[in-house]
Amino acid sequence: MNLKLFDLTDKVAVVTGGNSGIGKGIARGLAGAGCSIVIASRNLEKSRAATEELEQEFGVKTLCVPLDVKDSESIRCMPEHVMQRFGRIDILVNNAGMNRRKLPQDFSVDEWDQILDTNLRSVFLCSQVMHPLMKGKGGKIINIGSLTSIVGSGRTSPYAASKAGVLQLTRSLAVAWAPDNIQVNAILPGYISTPLTVQARKDFPGLDQHVLERTPAGRWGTPEDFAGPAVFLASRASDFVTGDFIVVDGGYVQGLFLIPQP
Ligand SMILES: NC(=O)c1ccc[n+]([C@@H]2O[C@H](COP(=O)([O-])OP(=O)(O)OC[C@H]3O[C@@H](n4cnc5c(N)ncnc54)[C@H](OP(=O)(O)O)[C@@H]3O)[C@@H](O)[C@H]2O)c1
Repeated sequence: MNLKLFDLTDKVAVVTGGNSGIGKGIARGLAGAGCSIVIASRNLEKSRAATEELEQEFGVKTLCVPLDVKDSESIRCMPEHVMQRFGRIDILVNNAGMNRRKLPQDFSVDEWDQILDTNLRSVFLCSQVMHPLMKGKGGKIINIGSLTSIVGSGRTSPYAASKAGVLQLTRSLAVAWAPDNIQVNAILPGYISTPLTVQARKDFPGLDQHVLERTPAGRWGTPEDFAGPAVFLASRASDFVTGDFIVVDGGYVQGLFLIPQP
């Protein structure tokens, strides 16, 4: 196998929400393949801690950029910081996201807007500002969806709507920008152990056991599980893959008919 296919030396990746959880796992994976990493999030202290870790462990160049993905002006200003430092952007990982859990009848309009703006509108706007910088240069966009991109979820309906939108947006951007040699794909995580799911485990005491029993792999996912799929989708190895998605869930979706082993 030609391992150079996965080499990201001289490439620059922007990872939104790259200071925590899945985004941090992806940033580590890309850094391990030689990529310079830009972490774009609100909490600069957390971002600095993450980039210091990457520099020490992988010897890559890094940058922290302040970004609130709910704020279109903040998104508009983001690429300039990166261009000033690196002069190029090759990879965008639209990972920043949030969730709230309650029944559909209990969500306020403000909560709906906050979730949709953070998880879906941001993916459109961040991708849009990258388009002129990536056009004709083999750009890669990786959007983080969810299993709720493809199945319903009674207690997270705005979240599920946003993540279904992320998948459809992925397909549409892929079609629109294939002639510009930009590949756009999605990763759909299953149940992953991150700060986002800590609260869910507290709120739903049976959740932990359910995930362990229902997942064929027999465990929660970890941020490290995203390194490989992200490197594949960010590298030349996936140049003819676009508008598609990779489910990273330890077989959770396929395990519908799990029966106890004899
Ligand atoms: N964990 C799971 O089981 C799971 C399952 C399916 C999908 N996902 C998706 O995976 C992605 C990452 O989730 P995670 O579990 O890794 O959660 P996490 O550890 O809570 O990380 C969320 C990240 O998003 C950033 N963020 C949130 N709001 C933001 C905003 N307005 N502007 C900029 N950055 C923002 C946070 O950074 P700052 O606070 O510094 O801004 C943080 O780095 C999300 O899109 C989530 O929906 C997670």
